[in-house]
Amino acid sequence: MNWIDFIIKNLILFFTIIILFISGCANKNAEELYPASTCDTINVKYSSTITQIISTNCINCHNGVLANGNPQVRLDSYTGVKAVADNGKFYKTLEGTTKQMPPSGRLPDCPISQVKAWIDTGSPNN
Ligand code: HEC
Repeated sequence: MNWIDFIIKNLILFFTIIILFISGCANKNAEELYPASTCDTINVKYSSTITQIISTNCINCHNGVLANGNPQVRLDSYTGVKAVADNGKFYKTLEGTTKQMPPSGRLPDCPISQVKAWIDTGSPNN
C-alpha cells in the first residue's frame, strides 16, 4: 500500500466514525434520553416527595399567612394537605379539571403522577 492509499482509507474510516457518532446522537429523541421510568411513583412519601412539590410550587400562596381566603387550602401541614387530598381538589387542581393550580400553569407530568400515586395509596403521613 502506498501512502495515498493509506491516507484515503484512513480518511474514509475517520468520516465513517464521525457520521455514526453524529447519527447516533441525532436519533435519540427526548423520550429515549429521559425515559418516563425516571419518574419514581413507587417511593413516594409525604415527608419527601409531596412536601418538596408543594414547597416548590404551592407554599407561597397556601401557608399560614396566605391561604387565599380559604382556610381549607393551607398546604403547610399534613392536615391541610390531607384535607384537599381527601376532597379531591389537590389532584383536580393539578390536572386543571376545576381550577388550574398553580395558576401559572400545569406542572410537568411527573410530579402530578407522584401526587396521584400518593393519593391512591390513601395519602399517608409517611
Ligand atoms: C400564585 C398563588 C398560588 C399558587 C402558587 C398556588 N395557588 Fe392554589 N389557589 C390560589 C388562589 C388565589 C386560590 C383561590 C382561587 C379561587 O377560589 O378561585 C387557590 C385555590 C386552591 C385550591 C382550592 C380550589 C377549589 O376548587 O376550591 C386548591 C386545592 C389549591 N389552590 C391547590 C394548590 C396547589 C396544589 C398548588 C401547587 C401545585 C397551588 N394551589 C399553587 C393561589 C395559588
